[in-house]
Amino acid sequence: MTQTNRQIVLKARPKGSVGPEHFESREVPLSPIGEGEALVRTLYLSIDPTIRGWMERDTYLPAIEIGAPIRSAGAGVVVESKSDDLKPGDRVFTLLGWQEYSVQKAGPQIMTIPDGVALEDALSVFGLTGLTAYFGLLDVGQPREGETVVVSGAAGATGSVVGQIAKLKGCHVVGIAGSEAKCAWLRSVGFDEVINYKTEDVAARLRETCPKKIDVYFDNVGGPILDAALMRLGRGGRVVLCGGISQYDVPDEKKYGPRAYLNLIAVRGRMQGFLVMDYASRYMQAIMELAGWVAEGKIQHRTDVVEGLERAPEALMKLFSGANEGKVLVRVSE
Ligand SMILES: NC(=O)c1ccc[n+]([C@@H]2O[C@H](COP(=O)([O-])OP(=O)(O)OC[C@H]3O[C@@H](n4cnc5c(N)ncnc54)[C@H](OP(=O)(O)O)[C@@H]3O)[C@@H](O)[C@H]2O)c1
Repeated sequence: MTQTNRQIVLKARPKGSVGPEHFESREVPLSPIGEGEALVRTLYLSIDPTIRGWMERDTYLPAIEIGAPIRSAGAGVVVESKSDDLKPGDRVFTLLGWQEYSVQKAGPQIMTIPDGVALEDALSVFGLTGLTAYFGLLDVGQPREGETVVVSGAAGATGSVVGQIAKLKGCHVVGIAGSEAKCAWLRSVGFDEVINYKTEDVAARLRETCPKKIDVYFDNVGGPILDAALMRLGRGGRVVLCGGISQYDVPDEKKYGPRAYLNLIAVRGRMQGFLVMDYASRYMQAIMELAGWVAEGKIQHRTDVVEGLERAPEALMKLFSGANEGKVLVRVSE
């Protein structure tokens, strides 16, 4: 049996941009498992922007402790078990942490990945980002046929699924992304209009591309792009606050808060945050519907796989530079 466990742990809390100085690699002895426990070998890690928040402070989960493995969802395989519900060979999805092995118990927090589902799909379009897109758009945004839906971070794991579901619902869909290559891909998967926020005037382009104003704005980025969308919101418009990645690595005193929120009064609009984990009891229903759309070729998705546990910090940083094309995963073992 393996005697050691390689981990990437939190060395220091980031205040601004996250960098290699916030992480440390170490090897620790692997303790034997107890009754009801299973040893899980990590296969893939899901790299999510929220990890940056967990490293800095208490959020909807307590901050990661200094010296503890970086908290992270992922997919693994049971290699040894003293649990009746987790069998050797089972592939599971849960919080594994940035480490080669973890000890897990059966319960609602751990899901078995059915045979035949590719792990990269299980962690992307059927994983947290696909589910975030599904519930954030359909439950919080509530788009109706013929309405205009705008999504920022549009070429990312969450945003790209949001836009494609909105197309399936008969909406006029506008995506905002940070490169020509990303904009070209969005056009190829059916977005009606795209805006490159790095080279174009977002407010001016929203006026051009949303002639009937915006009914649903799905926000992944916050900052000035949120303001531009608020200013173009139509009557009864809904702003879905999914994330604000442009502000995650900005020190508190420099964070850009919304300046145009008063427009919500004029348009009788609403702005609502949500967390995907609150929809856990409905995950399976959503996965079934997403699986149908993927099988019919109506939803395209991309994964950006970084090889090796040691490169997990680099993978996290890609989300903030925009270097990723699709859902960022780290392959830890075969
Ligand atoms: N509420 C929830 O339950 C929930 C769950 C999952 C994710 N989220 C949120 O959803 C958002 C997307 O997450 P994801 O995992 O799908 O990541 P992702 O969109 O695949 O990757 C992050 C993207 O953000 C963009 N970005 C980075 N810095 C930016 C900036 N300063 N301004 C504008 N765009 C910037 C980059 O794209 P460009 O090249 O286009 O800049 C980058 O590719 C995040 O805000 C995340 O926190 C929320």
